[in-house]
Amino acid sequence: MTPRRTLPITIIGAGAVGYALALSLHKKQYFIRAVFSKSGKPARLLGKKVGASQSGILSTKALDNGIIFIAVPDDEIKNVVRRLLRRQSHFSGSLVFHTSGALSSDVLLPLKKKGAAVGSFHPLQTFPRSKIGSVNLREIFVAVEGDRKAVEAGKRIARGIGARPFVLSSQQKVLYHIAAVFGSNYFVTLLSVIEELGLRIGVPQRKIIAMIEPLILQSLKNVRIESASSALTGPIARGDVRTISKHRSALKTKKLKHISELYTALAKATTRLASKKKT
Ligand SMILES: NC(=O)c1ccc[n+]([C@@H]2O[C@H](COP(=O)([O-])OP(=O)(O)OC[C@H]3O[C@@H](n4cnc5c(N)ncnc54)[C@H](OP(=O)(O)O)[C@@H]3O)[C@@H](O)[C@H]2O)c1
Repeated sequence: MTPRRTLPITIIGAGAVGYALALSLHKKQYFIRAVFSKSGKPARLLGKKVGASQSGILSTKALDNGIIFIAVPDDEIKNVVRRLLRRQSHFSGSLVFHTSGALSSDVLLPLKKKGAAVGSFHPLQTFPRSKIGSVNLREIFVAVEGDRKAVEAGKRIARGIGARPFVLSSQQKVLYHIAAVFGSNYFVTLLSVIEELGLRIGVPQRKIIAMIEPLILQSLKNVRIESASSALTGPIARGDVRTISKHRSALKTKKLKHISELYTALAKATTRLASKKKT
């Protein structure tokens, strides 16, 4: 296969997302010129895998025009931008993306002022560090936001790696990211409650999750086909008040206080949802 004709790509950040992105690009014949990270070691390892000619710690040597993906923790993006600005004084002809879900491309404004087209490129997937390199971007949605040139390029790159781009405005990003946090992080927290309750009745962690899995998948399917309010079942939707008070009293022990608090908050939200079902 011939290499794809795009500008050379630099990846800054060789953690969970940088790794997945670099491997997905490399697999589709994109030319990755450099991989950098904070400590340098993971970048050197990843750089070797994707045939990058430069890797290690982000040096002060200037890069030629190219595409830069900044895949570092959200709070570090500003530092990386500062470092890039120390590296070179203009970025005309370059495209710079970061991969944060919550932040918009505004954080890259200092680079835009120096001539870069800027955007954000957020893969809507979870990349656990423990599974580094095992999750790829094929078929997943990628939120692309930024100036026109960056959005067009971001969409092309997303499609090029087999992902599904969708465009967001900078104002939409925070609420979009909260939705993603509910879909992944808070959902995992709910699974941890199931694990804990399972252990309390003597069912091992893996078993209780396997037992609950069909219930989760069917609920998801129902919501996809209908909507959350019409898919809602259970004691709140039925108005089984006695069952709910039974739950509440079972959770009235000091050891289960954290679950009781979560139950109360979710019961409130569920009551709201159930009232929508009736209207
Ligand atoms: N993980 C997810 O599920 C996920 C999903 C979608 C989007 N995102 C977004 O993707 C971005 C990266 O997240 P991640 O989970 O991949 O983080 P991560 O696994 O913690 O990796 C962060 C990487 O950034 C490097 N780094 C940190 N500070 C740096 C600096 N000042 N200069 C250069 N490199 C620096 C680290 O270098 P060393 O390894 O050398 O320390 C590391 O390689 C974040 O904006 C996050 O919101 C994450």
